[in-house]
This record gives sequence, structure tokens and C-alpha cells, in this order.
Amino acid sequence: MRIIKARDYQDMSQKGAAVIAAQIIMKPDCVLGLATGSTPVGIYEQLAKGYRSGALDFSGISTVNLDEYCGLDPRDRQSYYYFMQEHLFRYVNIRQNAVYVPDGSNPDEKEACEKHETIIRALGGLDLQLLGLGRNGHIGFNEPGPVFEKETHRVALTESTIQANARFFDSPSQVPTHAYTMGIGTIFKAKKILVAVSGEDKAQAAAQAFRGPVTPEVPASILQFHPDVTVIGDEAALSGISDL
Ligand code: GLP
Repeated sequence: MRIIKARDYQDMSQKGAAVIAAQIIMKPDCVLGLATGSTPVGIYEQLAKGYRSGALDFSGISTVNLDEYCGLDPRDRQSYYYFMQEHLFRYVNIRQNAVYVPDGSNPDEKEACEKHETIIRALGGLDLQLLGLGRNGHIGFNEPGPVFEKETHRVALTESTIQANARFFDSPSQVPTHAYTMGIGTIFKAKKILVAVSGEDKAQAAAQAFRGPVTPEVPASILQFHPDVTVIGDEAALSGISDL
């Protein structure tokens, strides 16, 4: 695991985008695993800038998102599908039929989850998975628990995650209680993983995930065992790690 310290959010975003840009340049038909949340927004802005300047071409890229709220239609403004359109897809020349987000509007849990796994397999697997970090150490929506879930599955969101994500909704009661998420096994099969982490409120989770014991109670801690993980964090987020 490489941990790269960035000065601040802007620097983290530029460095993170540079890693993804390198992947796109090296393999123009690569499969990117993408994440939502506040953290990657700056990275997506930089990637859009790269497209506008002519440096990046997304026409051969496929993307697969980590997770989606259950019960939300892709056209819903709070859905992660909508988020991706708003923050990245509408600004770049990506093929609309090459972007995949779990289908939160499908009430058939088994079908929705199997379809997501089938898509990833059919694309030949994820070349680079971008991850944010939840305040409780979650990745995607893999919440702390007794085991590492392997494949895409339906999860009940913890109260802390519902509260953390309530800022995107009018009130906490509107936050969906369940989500579909890639499993830890799905994420782990990505050839490369890039974790972006920013802000003091992630410092404890980052220290536990990247320096603490590997345990499903801190889902991101499993990344310590992956052969190709790069963490890019700003100084505040990495402030709990003393050996950097
Ligand atoms: C959500 C997403 C995660 C994300 C996390 C942190 O729960 N499912 O993929 O990493 O929030 O979000 P933020 O970057 O807004 O702190």
C-alpha cells in the first residue's frame, strides 16, 4: 500500500485525477470502477478539465459504480446514477451505454446484484477502482460487520452512514435505508485500487483502516492485503498516521 500525502483537498484531487488519467492514457479501453460522495467530486472536475483540454479521451472507457441506493430510480436527483451524470459523465465523451450503476429501482435483490457482477465479469474485470472512505471505515456501502461480504449484495445502512449522507437530502428520514453495493470480494478483484481521503473527520477511520488490524469491523482495512493500492489523502485525513 502506497500512501501519498497531499497538501489539501485541491492537491488530493489533482493527484488522484493524475492517477486515473494515467490509467486512461495507458489503456484507452479500460474499465474504471467509480465512487460517489463528496470526496471524488474534485477528482471528477479535474478529469473533465482533462477532457476539455484534449488530454483525455473517454470514448473507449467503460465505468462501473460501486453502489446505489435501493428504491431510487436512476432519474431521481438523489440517486448515484444521477450524481455520476452531474459530476462527470455529462462533461466527457463517455458512451452512455458503457456506464453501469447498480439498478436501485429493481426490487429483486438477487437479480439486481447478480446483474452487476455479470457486467463486471463481461467487461473483463475492473482495471482501476476509485474508493472514498466512510467515517466508520466503510468502502462502497460495505458497513462494519462480522464478515467481509464477497459479492454485490443488499445492505442495511448504519445509522452513522444515514446521518453522514443526510446532507444530500432534505432530511435524514429521506435517506434510503438500504443500498446495493459491490462486495469486498468484488472490489478486491480490481487490478488497482485508488483510495481518496480528505478532511479531519476521516482521520480516525484512515488510521484504523491503513495502520490498524485487518478486520471486517473496519471494512477498508482489508485493502492492506491488496497488491496494488494507492491512498491519496490530504494532511488532515492522514493526521492520525504518524509514520508518514
Ligand atoms: C457513501 C458512499 C461511499 C463513500 C462514502 C464517503 O457512503 N457509499 O462510497 O466513500 O459515502 O463519502 P464522502 O466522500 O462524502 O465522505
